[in-house]
Amino acid sequence: MLKDKQIVLCCRSKTGFTAVYMEWIRNYLKERFGALATLMEPGELKKADFSQCDLLIYGGGLYAGKINGLDEVKKRIKGFPKTQVILFATGLSQGRPEELERVWKANLKAREMQRFYVFYFRGGFNFDRLDRGDRLLMRLMKKKLERESGLSSEGKEMLAAFEKPVDFTNREALGPLTELLEKMDQGL
Ligand SMILES: Cc1cc2nc3c(=O)[nH]c(=O)nc-3n(C[C@H](O)[C@H](O)[C@H](O)COP(=O)(O)O)c2cc1C
Repeated sequence: MLKDKQIVLCCRSKTGFTAVYMEWIRNYLKERFGALATLMEPGELKKADFSQCDLLIYGGGLYAGKINGLDEVKKRIKGFPKTQVILFATGLSQGRPEELERVWKANLKAREMQRFYVFYFRGGFNFDRLDRGDRLLMRLMKKKLERESGLSSEGKEMLAAFEKPVDFTNREALGPLTELLEKMDQGL
């Protein structure tokens, strides 16, 4: 039963989209299973002791194809093979299967793929919430997109998002992850 498990939740969220999903997951755990998970700040990961932790749920935004903060998680969790890991990424892209395959391949080795349960949820984009470094990167990206002819629908969507923030966060998207939690509650 999940309520008897030690569950740790941790996310790195630069502009708040990943944090929205994490909050939904935290509430689901509490309301559906009566499981009170521990929230961990990403800064605590480096020295965290997961020896009593049954399940870690980690979320991070996609930045140039990499899942924010994942390297640190992978490094730390290696020493605690008994802890199950659910990993989710959020991004602006639609999450087509071929895109996601690229994302997982670029972020996880084959044996990590075997260990981690992975999910992708659509986040959003809000230029005003970016820090200086990311603003600069995105300005360069905007210029590149503007120069491209025959822009894909996703490219167009991205350009429009510079003018007006977009938010694709959707509670329903969590379905596959909550299904996994149901199975874990039954002893997976
Ligand atoms: C510099 C930069 C790079 C990004 N790179 C990607 C990317 O490679 N793929 C993607 O789908 N979204 C990308 N995004 C969009 C973010 O992943 C998306 O906004 C995400 O939901 C942010 O989550 P957070 O606010 O919790 O950090 C990028 C955004 C910025 C600012």
